Amino acid sequence: MSDSALPPDTESVGGQQVPASGQSHSYIPTPEDVVGGSNTGTDGEISSGRPHVSKTLASDVDNPASEANASDHLTLGNQTETETVAEYGEPTETCSSETPATTEQVVAGPSSENAPQGERVKRSLPRVMAVANQKGGVGKTTTTVNLGAALAELDYRVLVVDLDPQGNATTGLGVDHRSLDYTVYDVLLNDVMADECIEPTDLKGLFLLAANLNLAGAEVELVNQMSRETRLKRALDEVIDQFDYVLIDCPPSLGLLTINALVAATEVIVPIQCEYYALEGLGQLTHNVELVRKNLNPALEVSTIVLVMYDSRTRLSEQVAAEVRAHFGPKVCRNVIPRNIRLSEAPSYGQPITVFDSSSRGSVAYRELAREVSDGT
Ligand SMILES: Nc1ncnc2c1ncn2[C@@H]1O[C@H](COP(=O)(O)OP(=O)(O)O)[C@@H](O)[C@H]1O
Ligand SMILES: [Mg+2]
Repeated sequence: MSDSALPPDTESVGGQQVPASGQSHSYIPTPEDVVGGSNTGTDGEISSGRPHVSKTLASDVDNPASEANASDHLTLGNQTETETVAEYGEPTETCSSETPATTEQVVAGPSSENAPQGERVKRSLPRVMAVANQKGGVGKTTTTVNLGAALAELDYRVLVVDLDPQGNATTGLGVDHRSLDYTVYDVLLNDVMADECIEPTDLKGLFLLAANLNLAGAEVELVNQMSRETRLKRALDEVIDQFDYVLIDCPPSLGLLTINALVAATEVIVPIQCEYYALEGLGQLTHNVELVRKNLNPALEVSTIVLVMYDSRTRLSEQVAAEVRAHFGPKVCRNVIPRNIRLSEAPSYGQPITVFDSSSRGSVAYRELAREVSDGT
């Protein structure tokens, strides 16, 4: 569903439009680049932080609301959370029988008929999963923290990697980054071993590789580093045998931090908010996943779609869920995460929902999700 909206002679990598030849201006090296080992970047302009607007749907061009929204897809140097124009609109206004334009455009795309059929696959451990969606505020961190906690409750050993300079997964797990000697920044840029940075959390079996605001600089500082795309992978390789699950909380962009997550992972989990414009930007994400898969990490796949902030009172949630299922087939988890106020309160107490309010709907939902993700059923 991704490529059709991109101009024919360009492709987008790390949020950067580059010539389709993909010779040099890419965060993702071609196999020749990797073999040649020369990764040190002729693309200094990428590091300038010049914002780049990435669009994914052809329909955006004709849709003024989406046009406005497209400016939210700034990638480099923009770590702020973004909101889409209609995300927080009144549900009552959206309960028409009309299908939301954006999702319709996506789902009506060529691959809707080819949606994969069958069951989810049971996978062997360890599993390294990047939780990615370049939109902000769609539930990446909430899913990382709470799925991680629920998996730890199932007696898996879980590492959460906070790869967002906002550090929300870090604070959400009750870790004060000011008390830490090292964070993931030092792993990526100062060659500190991951082992030295991994902290236990209050929950048995749940560990954290924390982030702080230093990480905001990493997006730019990485550009001129050797092996800039594989640094997280190499660090995690050293500790992977200690864990069953590694969940990487990605920032709301498709820059080098997210590329590092996609190179380190074998799976991508995409949380999708059951709201207007839910699928906007997903083409860009799947395109980047595909580029990383082709050039750096053949094992990578989008394995899991999680519908979040589902509001059963609105037809919009129902419609978005139905369309996401039609499009992505069995990749979409059976269990959906409801909109639940307790989920939004838990982070300020530094606790996952399973600890903060064990019987809340949000807690039950993330436990069910953990069972589904880990069972493959
Ligand atoms: N299922 C949910 N119900 C209610 N609030 C939620 C839910 N999921 C996430 N939120 C809230 O929405 C906001 C954005 O979620 P977050 O996980 O931080 O998104 P992201 O990491 O994608 O930016 C946060 O305030 C979070 O507490
Ligand atoms: Mg987040």
